[in-house]
Order: sequence, then C-alpha cells, then structure tokens
Amino acid sequence: MTITANKTAFVTGAASGIGLALTKALLARSCKVMMADIDAERLAAARTLVGEDNTAMVVCDVADAASVRAAAQATSDTFGNVHLLFNNAGVSLAGFPGQFDLSDWRWITDINLMGVAHGVETFLPLLTSHGEGAHIVNTASMAGHGTSPGMGPYHATKFAVVGYSEALRMELARAGVGVSCLCPTWVQSNIHNTSDNSPGAVNGRKFSTKSKAYQTVKALIENGMSADVYAELCMKAIEADRLHVFNDPEVRQSMIDRHVANLADFDACLADLRSIQDGEG
Ligand code: NAI
Repeated sequence: MTITANKTAFVTGAASGIGLALTKALLARSCKVMMADIDAERLAAARTLVGEDNTAMVVCDVADAASVRAAAQATSDTFGNVHLLFNNAGVSLAGFPGQFDLSDWRWITDINLMGVAHGVETFLPLLTSHGEGAHIVNTASMAGHGTSPGMGPYHATKFAVVGYSEALRMELARAGVGVSCLCPTWVQSNIHNTSDNSPGAVNGRKFSTKSKAYQTVKALIENGMSADVYAELCMKAIEADRLHVFNDPEVRQSMIDRHVANLADFDACLADLRSIQDGEG
C-alpha cells in the first residue's frame, strides 16, 4: 500500500517510543492519525508535540475489548474510512520462573497478545468495508524469533504475535489487507520501565533499577536505534508489503543458528522414529 494523504491510521501505544515515531512518520506523509494510549497524560503531551493537524487522540486500554471498540468508533466518527491499523502497544516483564505471579502472565498476555487480537477483530470490518485497501501492522519483537533468559513471558507473547501475523497475512491477502510484523531489537523508548507496572511488581516484586540486568537493558534501549529511523523502515516495509520488519544486522546469525538447531532436533527425531518403526516392524 502506498502511504498517502488520503489514508487514516489508528496507532496504539502512540504516546511514546515506537508508536509516537510511527505517528510522526505517518503525519509526514499527510495521513490522518488517531493516537491511542492508556496513559492519558503522556498521550496529551505526545499530541501537543506532533500537533493537532490531522491528529485526534483517544485513551484506550488494548487489553479491554470494549475500550478498543470505543476507540474504533471514535476513529471512524472522526476520520471516516480507516486504512492502517498499528497494534503496537506493549509492555515488558523481566524475571525468572518462580518469580512471577500468574497475574503477571495474564497482564502481559492481555496487552501484548490479546491487545493485538482485539485490534484485528474490532477493526477488520472497518478496514475491508471501503474497498480502498488496508494494512495491519502488529508489533512483535526480535524476541518473537529468538530467546534469551529472564524474559520468558515476553518471549511467549511475542512468538505468538509473529505466528498470528504470519497466519493473518495468508488469511487476509484475498481481502486486500496486507499484514506486517515489527521485529526490532533495541529501539529508544520507555519499554524498560514497564515491568514495574505489572500486578506482581505493584504487589512488591520490583525489577530493581539498581540491578545489573536493569542497567544493561536500560543502556541497550538508550543506545538503541532511533525510533524515528525504525518508523521510516516500517513505512518502507508497508509500501513493499513485507511481512517482517527487522533492524539489527547483529542478530542475523542467531536466526540461522536457531534454524540449524531446530533442524538438528528434527533430523534426530526422524532417526528415532525410523528406529521405532523398524523395531515394531
Ligand atoms: P514504550 O513504553 O515507549 O511505549 C509503549 C506505549 O504503550 C506507552 O505509551 C504505553 O503507555 C502504551 N501502553 C502500555 N500498555 C497499554 C495498554 N494496555 N493499552 C494501550 N496502551 C498501552 O515502548 P516501545 O518500545 O515504544 O514499545 C512499543 C512496542 O514495541 C511494544 O509492543 C514493545 O514490546 C515493542 N518492542 C520494543 C522494542 C524496543 O527496543 N523498544 C524492541 C522490540 C519490540
């Protein structure tokens, strides 16, 4: 899809980081943008920053289907046809097995995965009804393509978003809806602070800002790619109708290594299967 002046976009997590940068990139192309976020104060500040021309804002909790439905209604009431859906809002959750409340798991799943599902299921009729073409962009992460210790629930949600996006892309092609999946590593934002909003953290399990792990993640985010640069990469990917939007040459080899390790298990299982079948035969 060509991102031109007659397009309207709905962006979640628009008050900060990647969502705010996507908003700026869309406005630079003269699109209309409904900025959605759970944080009313930061959302208002973000809108002041980008300006009122071609923008509107709505406080929306992506974990709450009714809230997403209300935001969708506000979007079509304000701007009419909707062409671009950015299911971008997300949170991180740091910690190891045994440290999480189950409420932490539900919290991150409701936002990172169900938030995407709420966006797709709610907006799909609005994206297809006008016949002008549409594109859905789901924010996953490189954490949806590979793992590292200390982020299990985050990986679970992001692998799910990658899988869901790949399926959606096949399912919606005939309806004229493209699907892309954002898979960045470190982009400058506030994501490293969100762990402390989880229910378990509120009840006392804080991710100490003095810990080595926190300081490492904070430094990686602060020294990460500019969100504005990443947003430009996303615009190009949408226009090229590309599925994944990667940004980090340093993790390329890790994708190959993961694939090779999976194939080693695959081949070993097939060898075991042959020996079981030979034994049975
Ligand atoms: P951020 O923390 O700067 O922005 C996230 C925004 O989402 C915030 O404004 C926050 O208020 C909003 N939000 C949180 N919960 C919400 C909810 N329930 N409903 C509506 N809005 C909500 O973080 P960032 O990095 O811009 O995150 C955007 C997406 O990018 C997330 O899905 C994140 O997982 C993903 N991501 C970020 C990376 C990075 O290095 N910054 C790397 C890989 C993925």
